Amino acid sequence: MLSREDNELLTQVGPGTPMGSLFREYWLPTLLSSELPERDGRPVRVRVLGENLVAFRDTSGRIGMLADRCSHRCAPLYFGRNEEDGLRCVYHGWKYDVTGRCVDMPNESPERSFKDTIQHTAYPCQERSGVVWTYMGPRKAPPPMPALEWVTLPEEHHVTAKITEDCNWLQILEGDVDSSHGGFLHTTLEPDEAGIPRLRKEQDRSPHVKLRKTDYGFVYAKSREADARHYYWKFYQFLMPAFVIIPGGPERIMYRVTVPIDDQHTTFWNGDYTPSRPLTAEQRHQFIEARVIGGYSPATSDPLSMWRPLANAGNDYFLDYAAQRTERFSGIPPVKLQDIAMTEGEGPVMDRTQEHLGQTDGAIIEMREILLETVRAFRERGATPPGVDVPDIYQVRPGSTILPKDQDWLEAARGLRTTPGQAVLWAEGVNRVARMTVAGNEPRSRSYR
Ligand code: FES
Ligand SMILES: [Fe+2]
Repeated sequence: MLSREDNELLTQVGPGTPMGSLFREYWLPTLLSSELPERDGRPVRVRVLGENLVAFRDTSGRIGMLADRCSHRCAPLYFGRNEEDGLRCVYHGWKYDVTGRCVDMPNESPERSFKDTIQHTAYPCQERSGVVWTYMGPRKAPPPMPALEWVTLPEEHHVTAKITEDCNWLQILEGDVDSSHGGFLHTTLEPDEAGIPRLRKEQDRSPHVKLRKTDYGFVYAKSREADARHYYWKFYQFLMPAFVIIPGGPERIMYRVTVPIDDQHTTFWNGDYTPSRPLTAEQRHQFIEARVIGGYSPATSDPLSMWRPLANAGNDYFLDYAAQRTERFSGIPPVKLQDIAMTEGEGPVMDRTQEHLGQTDGAIIEMREILLETVRAFRERGATPPGVDVPDIYQVRPGSTILPKDQDWLEAARGLRTTPGQAVLWAEGVNRVARMTVAGNEPRSRSYR
């Protein structure tokens, strides 16, 4: 349970809020490059951290991210003419470049140099591996881009998809560290001795999740019994402000980013990457099939209408009540939809004064403490949040392994830190914790500015 004040502290992300200001210290993914496919093409409406923006690709190929309301009389720049390295408001013709400078003001006399006094809100953008990143913070010179592995890989190694969810960002993150839901929500049924479908017997219904603060956020580990002497461990990484990296199988890593659209909506970025080789066409196809969940609903130019799965609250997420009796515990088809049905159903902003957390919710409690500590230090002492000025600490990986029961999980997790030219993965195998150099992971000497 959280107090109302702490719940608001963690969930409110609009301009001027502590958590919103903390998010604005970081570069955030905002668009797929493919949403702005051509120079001088149609602008796109964007909503991030409660702000309405308009994005465009100018004549030179640069991405502009401007406040949508024109600085003159607040008309929407979304309707603007994207021409000759700037976006021109169609109301009275004021034109802005990607830096927000007003470069033309044809309805005013040039002698007044009024246009030189106008600085429209504009946020710097960079493209990496098929994704547009935006910095919405106060610094004149933005911090370096985080050296997250998929950000530094060529686009062929990386596939990603967006989903708009109708809930606060923290609910989605809490779902990740919610240790015991997997043994229920995501479980299929199988017949017992009498032929009656029941939860599978071998499933561990209260697995342990451990969590420790790090200099980039926290590492968390889920364990279940492998045999009488060993646990099977999966290590996940949470990197401030909203990145989660998950082991996805041999040479394959999954990631998620929860970027708040506003307090009540979130863009859930869902990606896979393969550090040592490009993804095959088949792998890309399978990824999209699995993550996009039957396709997207038709959208308008309203950002809240975009990237919405066909299955949603309005059709009960394709709940199949017969399948709930016979096939799967939830009756909702794929795993991601099961999660969305639960997290959206907690309410647009979950009221944490009403919850009753038990023993298996320990990781959620710890995670909130870490986030509260970070946002309070930022609000009260102006402490620079973790990782903002240290891009290389984002060079970590998730992993999985089997460890003897008495072995310290945190010691094992330490090896997941990658250093330039020496990325490491933990290999799976009973009583075998092998450290491997991952082929193809070159020292990172590129500039992120
Ligand atoms: S409102 Fe945009 S130019 Fe007047
Ligand atoms: Fe889940």
